[in-house]
Amino acid sequence: MNDKTRYEILKHREMMKGYSPADAGLEPTDQEQKLPFPAPVKEGKGSSVLELPLDFEDIVQEKNLFELIQERESCRTYKDENLTQKELSFLLWATQGIRHFAGKMKQVTLRNVPSAGSRHAMETYLFIHQIEGIPAGIYHYLPSGHSLELWEDRPDYTEELTEALAGQKFAGTAPVTFVWSVIPYRTEWRYGMKAHRYMLMDAGHVCENLYLACEAIGCGTCAVGAYNQDLLDDLLGFPGGPSGEMDDEFAIYVAPVGRK
Ligand SMILES: Cc1cc2nc3c(=O)[nH]c(=O)nc-3n(C[C@H](O)[C@H](O)[C@H](O)COP(=O)(O)O)c2cc1C
Repeated sequence: MNDKTRYEILKHREMMKGYSPADAGLEPTDQEQKLPFPAPVKEGKGSSVLELPLDFEDIVQEKNLFELIQERESCRTYKDENLTQKELSFLLWATQGIRHFAGKMKQVTLRNVPSAGSRHAMETYLFIHQIEGIPAGIYHYLPSGHSLELWEDRPDYTEELTEALAGQKFAGTAPVTFVWSVIPYRTEWRYGMKAHRYMLMDAGHVCENLYLACEAIGCGTCAVGAYNQDLLDDLLGFPGGPSGEMDDEFAIYVAPVGRK
């Protein structure tokens, strides 16, 4: 390992420790400086919205938590079958569903997954290919109303998505592929330099809930961390390239879903 690589690796380790010399307790976070809090969810674009059903208890198979954990596995082969809107709705509820808004100004979301300081910096995008009654395309989940908005009218995305996912065809062509982004400032506002490790921890909880929720309805998923950042950001219309703005948003995790 040359000196430059070693230096970069050590810097990344500092990130895991949530430590940097510039953050040795000297500079207060934006929250401590009483700067305005960032919005807890991203507003919709104003395009038409599809409300999702919330009565999905009947689709959950009779498996207990022990069985769900024991049977969880990464699944990379899916049946060539549509999933229903109820099934998709259940997976969204399990991964990012909001239970209620808290705080004096309703500025905090409490969800079905935990998040450091309940900052919930993630947004969910869906590359939909085979969901009953939903035209293929790229959608954005609006957790406040448990609904979907069309993000990009691009029904033939599979080749580009596969390329963005490092050629992993099973992930680019699945009935639905979850792509989670992060809006880092939501967490940085409170935690400054410690925010980055918290956001990565948060992402793990979201994906694990997806694994277990899939297992409960006879579906399978596989966490995907091998992707090309610029290609994936470009598909979602994010600026890409090195971070430049405080209102950055970029992809951080991917998970295709289909019936086992
Ligand atoms: C952070 C993370 C990234 C992963 N990235 C990929 C990936 O890009 N492609 C893939 O096929 N599997 C990926 N996996 C799945 C692992 O390969 C899988 O979890 C591991 O082989 C253990 O198998 P199991 O999940 O069935 O227990 C990833 C898993 C995690 C947690």
